Amino acid sequence: MGINFRNVSFRYNKKASKPTLDNITLDIFKKSEFITILGHTGSGKSTLVQHMNALLLPDEGEVEIFGKHITKKYKDKLKDTRKKVGLVFQFPEYQLFEETVLKDIMFGPKNFGLSDQEAKSKAIEACKQVGLGEELWTRSPFTLSGGQMRRVAIAGILASEPDVLILDEPTVGLDPVGKKELLNLLEDIRINTGKTIVIISHDMNVVAKHATRVIVLNDGKVVYNGPKLPLFSDLERLRSFNLDLPDSARIAIELKEKGLIDFDELPLALEELRKHLKLNLQGAGYE
Ligand SMILES: Nc1ncnc2c1ncn2[C@@H]1O[C@H](COP(=O)(O)OP(=O)(O)O)[C@@H](O)[C@H]1O
Ligand SMILES: [Mg+2]
Repeated sequence: MGINFRNVSFRYNKKASKPTLDNITLDIFKKSEFITILGHTGSGKSTLVQHMNALLLPDEGEVEIFGKHITKKYKDKLKDTRKKVGLVFQFPEYQLFEETVLKDIMFGPKNFGLSDQEAKSKAIEACKQVGLGEELWTRSPFTLSGGQMRRVAIAGILASEPDVLILDEPTVGLDPVGKKELLNLLEDIRINTGKTIVIISHDMNVVAKHATRVIVLNDGKVVYNGPKLPLFSDLERLRSFNLDLPDSARIAIELKEKGLIDFDELPLALEELRKHLKLNLQGAGYE
């Protein structure tokens, strides 16, 4: 069980000839996936993820979310669905509004019907999950750093205990350290709670390091849906999607072309590249 799309099409302008989402069929499973969605600007990524928690509803085809068939008829009865699939928007810090960090995080669970006391305990748990120390709980969210504000926004979604956590370009605007910390945090959440994480990203190093599955959108169509290695191993196809290689793969290919190293499988992580280099250098008499 999870999120199932069957031949889904969607248009913002109902009269437009070309749909924004074009006949999309895919499944997102509930357990422990780390999915990265790639595609050039305007390819439909944000529109797609808004269908995953029924913020937008398809014009054609079917979306099923945790066994619930999403149709316009039940538009007002989608609270449960939105609780199961948490969506963190791009620049979520702009949506913080309460006086204190804790109150902001309690907003979601309260909205889903929990009492103040219950919502508070969920919010505290979520703070711990994202590493927001107690000294920050009574602060105004607007006095925090960019990275901290983003954690508050993520905690606000986590506090409702979704099974699937979706983030639209979560690292945009963060410095390299903040970016790394946030990705490690998402990885920890996935490993410790078994939630599925879906992120929209443009960074191939992030894909190479974290993704268990990659979905590529092009002009509203899913043109790739599978593991990362075959995606990065087919350079021609990668180019046709307008995607880059991760750094380690790019360096490895350059070194191979110069006859300096060899590999059967393209190294996607720096650690793998290092291993190849060491083996090759040892073979050449270097220790
Ligand atoms: N609220 C909207 N109203 C009308 N058109 C929109 C709206 N949001 C996005 N679009 C259009 O839909 C297409 C896909 O946008 P989007 O899903 O935001 O792509 P991405 O996230 O991949 O950049 C683009 O052509 C965009 O201009
Ligand atoms: Mg977008």
